[in-house]
Amino acid sequence: MNEKITIPNHIGIIVDGNGRWAEQRGLSRSAGHRAGFTRLKNICLYAERLGLKYLSLYVFSTENFKRKKVEVDFLMNLFVEVFKKEFQELMDHHVKVVFSGRREPLPYNVLKVMDEISEKTKNNTSTVLNFCLNYGSQAEILDMTRNIAKQVLDGSLSIDDITLDTIHNNLYQDLPPLDLVIRTSGELRLSNFMLYQASYAEFYFPNIYFPDFMENDFWDAIVEFNRRNRRFGGNQS
Ligand code: IPE
Ligand code: IPE
Ligand code: MG
Repeated sequence: MNEKITIPNHIGIIVDGNGRWAEQRGLSRSAGHRAGFTRLKNICLYAERLGLKYLSLYVFSTENFKRKKVEVDFLMNLFVEVFKKEFQELMDHHVKVVFSGRREPLPYNVLKVMDEISEKTKNNTSTVLNFCLNYGSQAEILDMTRNIAKQVLDGSLSIDDITLDTIHNNLYQDLPPLDLVIRTSGELRLSNFMLYQASYAEFYFPNIYFPDFMENDFWDAIVEFNRRNRRFGGNQS
């Protein structure tokens, strides 16, 4: 019997294990990041083929700026290269690209390519790819709080009118809640990824470094998601 598999509405991937994948092979961490991004592109195309509506990809955290400058610089250049090179294919598949994160202290060339790709894909109607780049959930909550406080101070919002919608509207992007969060590499933590949006997400932690994370592994995560019984605080259905 073929069970009907439901594709979740919003999946998040914490892209992890590029460095260990490379070290295991005697390669540089840069080679691991490059392999990770090639894989990520294929996973994005697969998600689009499956008809996934929203895919959030954690590719660089606010805390990742603590890494050695040579690794940070490599990653920044890789973002520029990848977004330039893959742009046409994203367009061909009608994928919409948005970014979550702080602009400061991203270099100008990265911000430029981010702005270009979001502007050019903004009317696309297929999968929304939300790249979390220089993203931290705590920073997002702090920025949201400051925005709301400003509106209260300038009189455009009264405290009694602050609702969950106000919070939603002041986050970096207008996205539905996460249904499924996948973290590769075997680590069992969120590392500051979409804490608010993941309130009722299901979690899946495959023991695979991201450059080895294949389409069938992504599918396995979706199948496992279908086995979960989500209750949202209500009674067992
Ligand atoms: C994930 O791989 C990519 C980024 C954080 C940019 P890592 O670089 O964290 O790989 P590991 O965890 O060291 O193996
Ligand atoms: C989380 O991975 C951030 C991204 C995947 C972009 P890290 O490798 O930075 O997380 P920790 O340091 O293991 O928690
Ligand atoms: Mg890591």
